[in-house]
Amino acid sequence: MNNSSSNRILILLFSLLLISPLALSWKKDEFRNCDQTPFCKRARSRKPGACNLIATGVAISDDGDLTAKLIPRTLENNEAQDPPIEKDNSKPLLLTISVYQDGIFRFKIDEDPSLNPPKKRFEVPDVIIDEFSSKKLYLQRLSEEKIDNDSEYSSVVYLDDDYEGVLRHDPFEVFVRDRVSKKRVLSVNSNGLFDFEQLREKTEGEDWQERFRSHTDSRPYGPQSISFDVSFFGADFVSGIPEHATSLALKPTRGPGVEDGFSEPYRLFNLDVFEYLHESPFGLYGSIPFMISHGKSRGTSGFFWLNAAEMQIDVFGSGWNAGEDKIMLPVDEHRIDTLWMSEAGVVDAFFFVGPGPKDVVKQYTSVTGRPAMPQLFATAYHQCRWNYRDEEDVFGVDSKFDEHDIPYDVLWLDIEHTDGKRYFTWDKILFPNPAEMQNKLAAKGRHMVTIVDPHIKRDDAYHIHKEASDNGYYVKEANGKDFDGWCWPGSSSYVDVVNPEIRSWWADKFSYDQYVGSTPSLYIWNDMNEPSVFNGPEVSMPRDALHYGNVEHRELHNAYGYYFHMASSNGLLKRGNGNDRPFVLSRAFFPGSQRYGAIWTGDNTADWDHLRVSIPMVLTLGLTGIIFSGADVGGFFGNPEPELLVRWYQVGAYYPFFRAHAHQDTKRREPWLFGDRNTELIREAIHTRYMYLPYYYTLFREANLTGTPVLRPLWMEFPSDEETFSNDEAFMVGNSLLVQGIYTERAKKVSVYLPGEESWYDARTGTTYKGGKRYKLDATEESIPAFQRAGTIIPRKDRFRRSSTQMENDPYTLVITLNSSKEAEGELYIDDGKSFEFQQGAYVHRRFTFSSGKLTSSSLSHSAATNTAVKSSTVLPGSTVERIILLGLPSSAKSAVVEPGKQKVEIELGPLTMRRGQTHMYPTIRKPNVRITDDWTIQIL
Ligand code: GLC
Repeated sequence: MNNSSSNRILILLFSLLLISPLALSWKKDEFRNCDQTPFCKRARSRKPGACNLIATGVAISDDGDLTAKLIPRTLENNEAQDPPIEKDNSKPLLLTISVYQDGIFRFKIDEDPSLNPPKKRFEVPDVIIDEFSSKKLYLQRLSEEKIDNDSEYSSVVYLDDDYEGVLRHDPFEVFVRDRVSKKRVLSVNSNGLFDFEQLREKTEGEDWQERFRSHTDSRPYGPQSISFDVSFFGADFVSGIPEHATSLALKPTRGPGVEDGFSEPYRLFNLDVFEYLHESPFGLYGSIPFMISHGKSRGTSGFFWLNAAEMQIDVFGSGWNAGEDKIMLPVDEHRIDTLWMSEAGVVDAFFFVGPGPKDVVKQYTSVTGRPAMPQLFATAYHQCRWNYRDEEDVFGVDSKFDEHDIPYDVLWLDIEHTDGKRYFTWDKILFPNPAEMQNKLAAKGRHMVTIVDPHIKRDDAYHIHKEASDNGYYVKEANGKDFDGWCWPGSSSYVDVVNPEIRSWWADKFSYDQYVGSTPSLYIWNDMNEPSVFNGPEVSMPRDALHYGNVEHRELHNAYGYYFHMASSNGLLKRGNGNDRPFVLSRAFFPGSQRYGAIWTGDNTADWDHLRVSIPMVLTLGLTGIIFSGADVGGFFGNPEPELLVRWYQVGAYYPFFRAHAHQDTKRREPWLFGDRNTELIREAIHTRYMYLPYYYTLFREANLTGTPVLRPLWMEFPSDEETFSNDEAFMVGNSLLVQGIYTERAKKVSVYLPGEESWYDARTGTTYKGGKRYKLDATEESIPAFQRAGTIIPRKDRFRRSSTQMENDPYTLVITLNSSKEAEGELYIDDGKSFEFQQGAYVHRRFTFSSGKLTSSSLSHSAATNTAVKSSTVLPGSTVERIILLGLPSSAKSAVVEPGKQKVEIELGPLTMRRGQTHMYPTIRKPNVRITDDWTIQIL
């Protein structure tokens, strides 16, 4: 059989596998569990107190860091140790502690390079942003103190006015504590589980290979794993470490209270998982080793370990260590203990002291970067499926949206649009005029997205492959040959985007002259970048494959997709004039991905459980920097019943990234295919998103400035309300809107908890509800429950157009919900929606406040210069406020005066939204004739 016919048979076999019903369920056996993963098994079997390291030689270095050596307590007394010290782990480790502004504490542990270890261990470059180093504080003073009845001293350093860092020498422990109460906030090795397998020479007869199914990992460098315990004090729950399909508050995986299906650690290993379960600690497409804890008494704190190798994390149920004799902290102390295990790399870890939820995300994103500011169109609705067949199909779908009066902004093309899965090319028969097609859509203000994956078809006639193989740009096998694996195009190689030179080459591929048929309205989708290799171990790349700098794949696996995303995003930056904000959606992610684009939660399923779990998944991503994410609306696999599809649109309309997508074997499911009533309901859901676009865009800017996510867990806004801690069915959009999903079929009732002391206004009807209570409401078909918090002002645009671009100059509606003191406040951020000029001050950031019967619009810009720049620029010259709706205003109010100009305006009664059939009417000022960019006041008379 020649090569190409055997290729074809293999492709056929793979395709059959992909579509067979058997394949449509999670294949547990394809993936390793902890017991089949030797480093995980070893780490999990260690007992508390097993670590016998002590810190010696503590000093302050010239760089202003605290440094120390970690050595085994009694080298001489080896026999007496329990467990005995492994000889090879007896070399001193180097510990460096650094302190940064805003309460950030960092510690690194690595082998001592002066002792010539066989290899330099991998440290992930390009994640920590450059600006971070300028926040470093130079330690000058070190105080010594005896703590917890120790016989030895501990070293104490200043962290900020409220917290200090402690290195306990013997037993070795690192923690931060409250300066006054001296209570620990976060600690490492309080349970003595720290272990660092040092690189060493192989001893005779030793076999370092690891086998899994038909794959053998040569493991030329042998064991090199690191594990340690991290404790979160005063924590009621921990959250974070995406990506898993599970609850927002992480369930224990060891000790008391472990639920069925949760006895494995949370795995962080980027994998392409077919039909993932909706409830499992199994690791999905992306990894962020960042955990947040929150508790009523102490507040919020965070722990981040920058390491790109496979990681496994146990969350211990309280009392897990009862009966252990070597424990160092009281069993019943209010804290959550966790165990972090990684196959390779170094310890480069951060403590964030909070103390509020927003402080922690700010601290984390000051290390890994604030989220990119997306273009406005990208925050609107996206229509995707695998695949829109040809140009005719594209135009058909496009015009149906107009026919049915449904706005959308982006039409997506999946892998079938290419010439044989050769990315950057077009199928000449199906898409003969790609540029013209994009331009036609662009004329309506719409954009297109095409898919570009990292596997390159090994075909000498394909220019990308030719260049990559000629230049040696592919990831190599352990034996030095180009790695060759199976993916969509058949035999493929993978670009080694870890190398900056290769990233730059890749980025050039997006230029208009190289990506023939692309136009400025075309953006990019990166998929399969875990990377997915159909015939590789666990559907990925062998761990002994080699990258730039002789780095093994095992050392950076979880960052591969991040680098690919970065290279593609840089490509969009490079093309054109460099003044167009990139949009790249990626499936794989790592800390820092927030700087490069959006993330979606991969191949979910059209069932209610997957709709339900999409909310904790998106919330968790948001807590860990990835504020721009969403799940495939409708579910990727399978055919949703119309009711599920409608409910999914109603929830999805609030995802930061709002895109419908479906597998190629599913029935077509564009919004108009399920009868008039369902079309109407879907239209209404999409309209809701368009109405709130000004609010969303403002929230994206807040995220861009502070790291605070767009979608927030209730506890982020109500941190001391325990009722919210386990609630991940409802969520906040910004600080003003609370949304409750409906996740069951034919629901008659829906239970909603409204936190806080202030009231809430039903965003649809205006009905008020007292806060701090749970309500059982009627579940209506028209929408899922959404409430505006009393005391807030939400900017909207209520005129529906074909796309967000066409709404650019539309007037605003302000919805004011007064609190018990008859006050409210809110913000609005506007810029040109696409360029980087906002970074030069070309934006409008308004603050609205209502108090003493007066609404005031003032500038929130950071400097007067900024404001002038905006006023003289062309940003939205004509936008005015067309309606101000005042919920909670006494009905006696009949008129108001607008200043400047002393213009008197009537207060009439009007509907809360433009939806048909609105019966409730509320005090409304129509056409107050004020510009959104100006300072003005409106005094109610
Ligand atoms: C992967 C993606 C999915 C895409 C498909 C074909 O399964 O997750 O979204 O449609 O590949 O490209």
